[in-house]
Amino acid sequence: MLSTSQLNIVSFHHTYLTIRDMASSTTMASLALALVLLFLGSSSAQLSTNFYSKTCPNLFSTVQPVIQSAISSEKRMGASILRLFFHDCFVNGCDGSLLLDDTSSFTGEKTANPNRNSARGFDVIDKIKAAVEKACPGVVSCADILAISARDSVVLLGGPNWNVKLGRRDARTASLSGANNNIPPPTSSLSNLISKFSAQGLSANEMVALSGAHTIGQARCTSFRARIYNDTNIDGSFDKTRRSNCPSTSGNGDNNLAPLDLQTPTSFDNDYFKNLVNQKGLLHSDQQLFNKGSTDSLVSTYSTNPSKFSSDFVAAMIKMGDISPLTGSQGEIRKNCRKIN
Ligand code: HEM
Ligand SMILES: *[C@@H]1O[C@H](CO)[C@@H](O)[C@H](O)[C@H]1NC(C)=O
Repeated sequence: MLSTSQLNIVSFHHTYLTIRDMASSTTMASLALALVLLFLGSSSAQLSTNFYSKTCPNLFSTVQPVIQSAISSEKRMGASILRLFFHDCFVNGCDGSLLLDDTSSFTGEKTANPNRNSARGFDVIDKIKAAVEKACPGVVSCADILAISARDSVVLLGGPNWNVKLGRRDARTASLSGANNNIPPPTSSLSNLISKFSAQGLSANEMVALSGAHTIGQARCTSFRARIYNDTNIDGSFDKTRRSNCPSTSGNGDNNLAPLDLQTPTSFDNDYFKNLVNQKGLLHSDQQLFNKGSTDSLVSTYSTNPSKFSSDFVAAMIKMGDISPLTGSQGEIRKNCRKIN
């Protein structure tokens, strides 16, 4: 199957042959070079912020009210939806694969370790998809709905705004093993975190900026138990507070929740980084970002410079949204985000 950019090359090649006699070989060489450079630069250039401006002009105003009403009934939902986008993008790109339900003949990603009893917000995505299908049937992918919903969630919780690149199509496959291997667990060391992000083309700095998403939302006791009972790089009174609602023995209170940002878990700000500087990161992996390592200085910077955090977070979100999209005639536009057409 040919992607849009490959098709462009085929048609260019045709033009090349017809104009060949008129052109000097030097001109043709530089044209060819320009083409190669254009092609190299276009690996994610297929996504664009105005992708649906003709085919679904009211897309943004259809999505936003549904997110807004979900967040006004439960503020945590904004965090849950932002996380869905991350878990989608890290497994074969941002292709809506996470949204597919398991069936007797299909294995999805929802039962992978990072998602089981943890990923939530799928019913909100269904509501948005239903509203979007009503406005523009068969046009907008679930992968793009997730990208818009993640942005809207950040904005509604007080974070920065940005223009979302669109044009992704939906996968007809999912990868349970990809979800288990690519999404780092909360027990990760700094070098593991860096390498999991690097495998997705994201730098250590981008990893730190994206981790600032933990300024909103909640984690289960099972995700931070080992940290509060065994880590030594933790503030004593914070530790005591967290232990009071998370028993040390596995199987007890596993699903008890604690905020990832103890100060303002429903506002998107830079308090997450202030916590890290004070050894009050909830997850072992969080505190790894400020533990006398290479990422300490960036954490310090974000803890005192919220506008630098905002602009770096936005840039990194756009880059994460560019991971291996299906475009052109690849994949499909799912009718129901939970199943392939
Ligand atoms: C750096 C590596 C990361 C690790 C190890 C990690 C791990 C985790 C864990 C263990 C939880 C709690 C899950 C539970 O106990 O049910 C969580 C929650 C969350 N994560 Fe991450 N995460 C990482 C990066 C990210 C990124 C890049 C984003 C988004 C850009 C993100 C957004 C969130 C949000 C918003 C929540 C709260 C979800 C809710 O309340 O429903 N995380 N993460
Ligand atoms: C703490 O570490 C010890 C020794 O490795 C281990 O046996 C114990 O299960 C750990 N506790 C928690 C709560 O993870």
